[in-house]
Amino acid sequence: EMSDEERNFQDRIDRDEKIEPKDWMPDDYRATLIRQIGQHAHSEIVGQLPEGNWITRAPTLERKAILLAKVQDEAGHGLYLYCAAETLGVTRDELTEELLSGRMKYSSIFNYPTLNWADIGAVGWLVDGAAIMNQVPLQRTSYGPYSRAMIRICKEESFHQRQGYDIMMKMAQGTDAQRKMAQNALNRFWYPSLMMFGPSDKDSVHSAQSLAWKIKIDTNDELRQKFVDQTVPQAKYLGLTIPDEHLKWNEERGAHDFSEPDWSEFFNVIKGKGPCNIDRMKDRVAAWEDGAWVRDGLLAHARKKSAARTA
Ligand code: 3HC
Repeated sequence: EMSDEERNFQDRIDRDEKIEPKDWMPDDYRATLIRQIGQHAHSEIVGQLPEGNWITRAPTLERKAILLAKVQDEAGHGLYLYCAAETLGVTRDELTEELLSGRMKYSSIFNYPTLNWADIGAVGWLVDGAAIMNQVPLQRTSYGPYSRAMIRICKEESFHQRQGYDIMMKMAQGTDAQRKMAQNALNRFWYPSLMMFGPSDKDSVHSAQSLAWKIKIDTNDELRQKFVDQTVPQAKYLGLTIPDEHLKWNEERGAHDFSEPDWSEFFNVIKGKGPCNIDRMKDRVAAWEDGAWVRDGLLAHARKKSAARTA
């Protein structure tokens, strides 16, 4: 049975009103947002690692500059999202501690390795493509600071996807060896990209409540289906084959039938047993520890300055 406050809150959500930091909100609404926005921010920061690995190995200066700009954008997306999470009463240090301890997650996709340059194309095309599919509806999420962060992030994401697809085009229409690399990258990134949308709706523990609170606007399966329908013609244009022999257009559904990812692999990866989970955590712990002297110096300087002001 809802309390008056909960009833009023739900009425506001139903009227598509934006909830702002100072407004009353159910504890679980706040907790769900801290969990989702925090993990979204962690995904942006950890997501820099697979691509960062290729900045010094980019095939041309132009590709290097493009990749550098994209990785820099991801850092900014992480900052926008940590700031949105801070409006809910959690600090960035607390969120970082939750990530480094393994208690908070980041997107499963970043636990797969980027083995060659074609992977950087597949990441931009498929991973940023899936992220855009998930983030565009999130611009309408009910929590004001999250919705505004999403609007800013979506403006920058289309370049990320476009540059990845351009790499795939160059290689798919290049030499036999390049085309083979592009096909192999698609083979390895297709199912992990489908997993980015989360478990199937029947296995999604948070969806019902997140949909009721308009934190989530579409279900995991709806967005996965839209992603497949959008990506099939793009693969065809490249002359590449999506690694799913059951993939086919279903006239009466007006959508493609396709094979689900291996959900046991998905749950293994988000439990920390993916190909790169250990490396990603090692890199993030090292970054935190190696950066301690910078944080200490800045804090000491800030304390001195504020002491001088009050003296
Ligand atoms: N990777 C890791 N964990 C995942 C996951 C994934 N791909 N999909 C689901 N999970 C986790 C959920 O976090 C939840 O675990 P938790 O309770 O410990 O948080 C559990 O699996 C059950 O999943 P649910 O579907 O019930 O959970 P949600 O309702 O939170 O839905 C979600 C999952 C669709 C990922 C939703 O949280 C969401 O939309 N998050 C915001 C989008 C986001 O995080 N995107 C990251 C993409 S990468 C990126 O943005 C960088 C880009 O620039 C490349």
